[in-house]
Amino acid sequence: MAPKLSQSFLLSVLVFFLSSILAATHEDPTRRTMEEFSGYPTVPLHSFLSLSPSSLFVDKESLQRQIDELSTFSDTPAPSVTRVLYSEKDVLARRYIKNLMEQAGLSVREDAVGNIFGRWSGSEPALAAVATGSHIDAIPYSGRYDGVVGVLGAIEAINLLKRSGFQPKKSLEVIMFTSEEPTRFGIGCLGSRLLAGSETLANALKETVDGQNISFFGAAKFAGYNIHEEHLSNVFLKKGSYFAFLELHIEQGPILEEEGVSIGIVTAIAAPASVKVEFEGNGGHAGAVLMPTRNDAGLAAAELALAVEKHVLDSGSVDTVGTVGILELHPGAINSIPSKSHLEIDTRDIDEKRRNSVIEKLHQSAIDIAKNRRVKLSEFKIINQDPPALSEKSIINAMEVAAQHLNLSHKLMISRAYHDSLFMARISPMGMIFIPCYKGFSHKPEEYASIDDIANGVKVLALTLANLSLD
Ligand code: GLV
Ligand code: MN
Ligand code: MN
Repeated sequence: MAPKLSQSFLLSVLVFFLSSILAATHEDPTRRTMEEFSGYPTVPLHSFLSLSPSSLFVDKESLQRQIDELSTFSDTPAPSVTRVLYSEKDVLARRYIKNLMEQAGLSVREDAVGNIFGRWSGSEPALAAVATGSHIDAIPYSGRYDGVVGVLGAIEAINLLKRSGFQPKKSLEVIMFTSEEPTRFGIGCLGSRLLAGSETLANALKETVDGQNISFFGAAKFAGYNIHEEHLSNVFLKKGSYFAFLELHIEQGPILEEEGVSIGIVTAIAAPASVKVEFEGNGGHAGAVLMPTRNDAGLAAAELALAVEKHVLDSGSVDTVGTVGILELHPGAINSIPSKSHLEIDTRDIDEKRRNSVIEKLHQSAIDIAKNRRVKLSEFKIINQDPPALSEKSIINAMEVAAQHLNLSHKLMISRAYHDSLFMARISPMGMIFIPCYKGFSHKPEEYASIDDIANGVKVLALTLANLSLD
């Protein structure tokens, strides 16, 4: 071990000097933007890694096979994947993950809502563990990599460390979060939000039903989780439960691929929000009710959808985005004027205030549209309005050192998608590793990441976990 340590130390010192020279000779504007957004300068870590790059072997064949096998637990045909919380396919996929964790020698536990934890006890198990993980639920007609890479990749990172003979000091833990996607109950990061102690969510879940009017508790029971209301707070974790939390994820954007960079190191996660809106009119016969007397809830929804686009564009920043991903009309018959409409609006920004101002303008628009169209605005409900999260400086540095050690090109970047890390950051220092994905495609069947890129991410993850475990 000792010769390896000193070799690695020399390598890290060399990398440190080289990167200092590079930083001094050409200033990266992206880095400057990151620094402005995250509010702190990024500096190299004065640390060393005990594992040489050649000892880090990723079993790409097994990992690809697992990704492919997991994708078959889907309610829609390949290449699409649809895996919704507490569905039969979700239950099968959970079993698959628990088996892999057990095969990796992890001790597995599940909390009341089905967050799954696999722990490798360190030599000092009383210390707060270093955790990593992501989700395996998949929105309708999506792909096989979103979230999955961060769960299967995390288990492979553990396998890699075990194969290399590494012994953790702080325990290492893989977490598979319940329902990062908002598909079934309309709220994203359900599992990690609860872990982070969201009383608001715990209370809301008591009343929450899905599109088929199945309660959260009923759905959970179907999946084998017999939750009682009072159990929800058992899911909450105390701040300090983890020494660090890391998430490996596909970028879900085109930057890394376009720039030919292997690793994205996330400095901050943009602030997401979602809003539910309902309009009610009188409906009626599509032939018999003349235009001047109509109060069409469908047209009110259409007008509000355009207002979303307008307010977002009016912000003047490309960082402000808004999407009407759900627009439903009742009764949904071609010859019936819609008597009810239902919209779900997703809006995000790296600037929380600017995002909030879009929501305020939307509310005003919804009120005005309802008045002008003589329909009732029966609901304007902000489901979530989350602040952004910042990665921890020391973890950014640990990830940079790992990428440098592996000789992988890397850059600092912002995550425009949200992740379980957004909530884990509330209870633990957090960092995220991005890998390139084909054309930035995500949330659609064409989503793809090469196994070589995934393996690079797994190595950076493994090395960072190792480094933090010994820290
Ligand atoms: C996560 O899936 C997101 O919508 O950003
Ligand atoms: Mn997703
Ligand atoms: Mn995801």
